[in-house]
Amino acid sequence: MIFQTQTAIVTGAGQGIGFAIARRLAREGASVLLNDLDETLARQAADAIQGEGGRCLAWPGDASDVSFIRQMIRRAVEEFGRLDIVVANAGITIFGDFFDYQPEAFEKVMNLNLRGSFFLTQTAARQMREQGQGGSILLMSSVVGHQAHPGLAAYAMTKAALEMLAKNLVLDLSPHGISINAVAPGATQTERTLDDPSYIPIWSKITPMGRPATVDDITNAALFLVAPQSRHITGQSLVVDGGWTSVSPPPV
Ligand SMILES: NC(=O)c1ccc[n+]([C@@H]2O[C@H](COP(=O)([O-])OP(=O)(O)OC[C@H]3O[C@@H](n4cnc5c(N)ncnc54)[C@H](O)[C@@H]3O)[C@@H](O)[C@H]2O)c1
Repeated sequence: MIFQTQTAIVTGAGQGIGFAIARRLAREGASVLLNDLDETLARQAADAIQGEGGRCLAWPGDASDVSFIRQMIRRAVEEFGRLDIVVANAGITIFGDFFDYQPEAFEKVMNLNLRGSFFLTQTAARQMREQGQGGSILLMSSVVGHQAHPGLAAYAMTKAALEMLAKNLVLDLSPHGISINAVAPGATQTERTLDDPSYIPIWSKITPMGRPATVDDITNAALFLVAPQSRHITGQSLVVDGGWTSVSPPPV
């Protein structure tokens, strides 16, 4: 098993892409601290992973709160003895017309997507530096960090910024053997996106591969990037979108 002896943290992993990544890491032998803001979802998700024989600790809380982040890293190390992999998956999407977009929505998006991911990366990298054996950090971007999409100006800014963060931090992290990359999913079927009944028909029509991504499509890319064998890949962003960014028709 590729991740045997490794410890991972995945934020926002009570459902959707984060849960799929946490579950596959555990299936491949990693010990996983599973975070979600929603305590019930976090505990259910961790129970499901444990039910399959995985090592998983639920750690509910707000991944945009810096003191919570520090506590979460300490808890992972106390429980599992070390930290090797961090997936800064938690991210919030708030759609809105640019001309009416409100500061409250803007701040929520910035706080979780940027502040949370930045300080999770910083705190995890300090721990990995102290351990002296490298590590892998993965930031969760989006295709809308590459191409315009209606109603997502603020969210899109954060995703483009995360990709720049990955690029910039090769300077700080490479001397410690820590890789940092981003994965940029296109439209992906999750509990949230499937709330919209037109999601699959629309994205199937405008995606060259003829369907939106599944959480497994994104997980395959994520596991490749955080695998110890991939550590020489750093500062990169991997788009997983069935070809959408090559043509980019808007979802109307
Ligand atoms: N689903 C897609 O189509 C898609 C496409 C591109 C990028 N993404 C990105 O992938 C990531 C996961 O997306 P998803 O659609 O699977 O997620 P989602 O919206 O289904 O949310 C996943 C979980 O995050 C939790 N969460 C929300 N705020 C939190 C906080 N402050 N702290 C901790 N947990 C919190 C939620 O409770 C939820 O269980 C996000 O960063 C998102 O921007 C998703």
